Amino acid sequence: MQTVEIMEKTFEAESGDIALYLAMSQKAADEGHPEIALYLYHVAMDEARHAAEFAALLGKVKDTRSNLKMMLDDEIRTEKDKEEAARIAITEGNEDAYKFFESSKHDETRHKAGIKAALLKLQEKD
Ligand SMILES: [Fe+2]
Ligand SMILES: [Fe+2]
Repeated sequence: MQTVEIMEKTFEAESGDIALYLAMSQKAADEGHPEIALYLYHVAMDEARHAAEFAALLGKVKDTRSNLKMMLDDEIRTEKDKEEAARIAITEGNEDAYKFFESSKHDETRHKAGIKAALLKLQEKD
């Protein structure tokens, strides 16, 4: 039981590190350090592999149809959450946050459409 709890925490930590390393890679690139940017990008991908392995070990990954259905629900929820977050950000005068909630909401909408299309393709094979 303790191992599973540690694995859950490790999954969360690895997942957070992916984002941090990607953001830091972008920052290094913006500051004109392409080799460091590339190195940090590769570290981010290592962390992504670690997180993915823990996700699988923890049973978070099912068959493809179930995975797609689960993530479709997640994308629908995330899209709504981003809309609400954008509203709150603009109300509080945080223009940068507002802009990014808006633009990333469009990404979620695109993810939703892509997952729906993949599910339809799977259905056609039945
Ligand atoms: Fe790691
Ligand atoms: Fe998404």
